[in-house]
Amino acid sequence: MASAAVEFARANGARFVEELKDLLRIPSISTDPARVGDVRRAAEFCAEELRRIGMREVRLIETSQDQSMVAEAKGPARVVPARIGHPLVYAEWMGRKGAPTVLCYGHYDVQPAEPIEEWRSPPFEPTERDGNLYARGAVDDKGQMWMHVKALEALMNAGGGDLPVNVRVLLEGEEEVGGEGIARFIREHGDALRADVALISDTEMFAPELPTLCVGLRGMIYTEIEVRGARTDLHSGMYGGAAPNAFVALAQIIARLKDADGRILIPGIYDQVQAPTADELKAWKALPFDEEEYREAEVGSKELTGEAGFSVLERTWARPTMDVHGMPGGFTGAGAKTVIPARATAKVSLRLVPDMTPAETFRRLQEYVAKIVSGSREMRACEVEVRLIHSGDPIVVSTDNRYVRAATEAMREVWGKETVFVRGGGSIPVVGDFVRELKVPAVLMGFGLPDDNLHAPNEKFHLPNFHRGIESVIGFLTRVGDRG
Ligand code: BES
Ligand code: MN
Ligand code: MN
Repeated sequence: MASAAVEFARANGARFVEELKDLLRIPSISTDPARVGDVRRAAEFCAEELRRIGMREVRLIETSQDQSMVAEAKGPARVVPARIGHPLVYAEWMGRKGAPTVLCYGHYDVQPAEPIEEWRSPPFEPTERDGNLYARGAVDDKGQMWMHVKALEALMNAGGGDLPVNVRVLLEGEEEVGGEGIARFIREHGDALRADVALISDTEMFAPELPTLCVGLRGMIYTEIEVRGARTDLHSGMYGGAAPNAFVALAQIIARLKDADGRILIPGIYDQVQAPTADELKAWKALPFDEEEYREAEVGSKELTGEAGFSVLERTWARPTMDVHGMPGGFTGAGAKTVIPARATAKVSLRLVPDMTPAETFRRLQEYVAKIVSGSREMRACEVEVRLIHSGDPIVVSTDNRYVRAATEAMREVWGKETVFVRGGGSIPVVGDFVRELKVPAVLMGFGLPDDNLHAPNEKFHLPNFHRGIESVIGFLTRVGDRG
């Protein structure tokens, strides 16, 4: 028989989805300065609901700060451009003396929705189709964060206003832009977040119907490489042959970052890379993974790329990578314009794996770029600057603790299957801060699906996963409390 909390969640599931749609209508795009008001509105929406369901001490925590403080706090490799600082949302219920405390984390900010014309329904008008809810943030992470809030509501209701376990809720509005604010808050006010375990639902299941715990995430450095050539844009007929072209120089730099076999050419970049354990590799081989189907259905290119000698799962989970995200600047309008651009920028990131560190990796990249720019006349004629925009540590979490067991038991009950342990290729910078600063184990229990289109057009959340996710969280919190 289902618990009273699960009964409540089932009886109220349709309302939960309608509330989530209201949250999804708020375009809380953290990277867009024009959306600060919307980001705050999303924070207030969450705080309001946490208050309504009976959580205590609910408040927004400001993270804005001036530039000098940022530079001082992070050291030279972590200087970030002036940032607005979106608020954290905090709530707690600490009424069960002696029981463990669970820190529930989620993020209410989302990625930009572009290219808008590729969405089948508008990104901020949540739409149900075929059992899926389509909207930017549906699964990453508003929908998954809402599972936590709704599990708490159901437990509160079943417990007559009490929870089976102590809970702190911490929601972030800057995850998609690197999470500097939350990292700083944890460093400075860690005691206010004392907990026994962190629960994070911001990852995916390995396959539909396959309950999954994520036990490792890559870290990253996100950088901008800026090249400046001539003083101003020039006529390419009059000056072509004499003036440096910033885009050509930039392309030459980028072309030297990886070799023809997909290896990153930055010296020393692989020095700190730890190979996965033999047990991990064995477990990954046993996962239901068809490389050809992955290529066809998920990637959609005629071939896969990456380092030779490593499987796709190793390449995406346990190897560092480099990607170029965009090259703003120059002429990109319709038709033709004969111009030599004076400036060119590329947004370039590297994904990191244990035991790489963002500071060391950024230093290696800077030094390498400084060295290679002597390699051509075009590059030598330009000024080149590499700037760090944000960074996050890679992490592998331990699986040998009662919280991981509580999660696998809860998921066995809901999904009727044993949990698989995977890593994720993405990054959630705060997980490293939870583990290293707060010294708590992290349970990464996520319910996204491989075809959910995170960060892409037509992002969705499979609604059965939303509801079963709520039941899984209820089961987890109940079990952690039971044996407190
Ligand atoms: N939820 C994702 C990370 C993720 C996705 C982990 C899938 C595992 C599986 C998160 O919101 C995200 O996109 N993070 C950014 C972090 C970055 C901006 C610092 C990322 O990975 O690009
Ligand atoms: Mn996310
Ligand atoms: Mn994301």
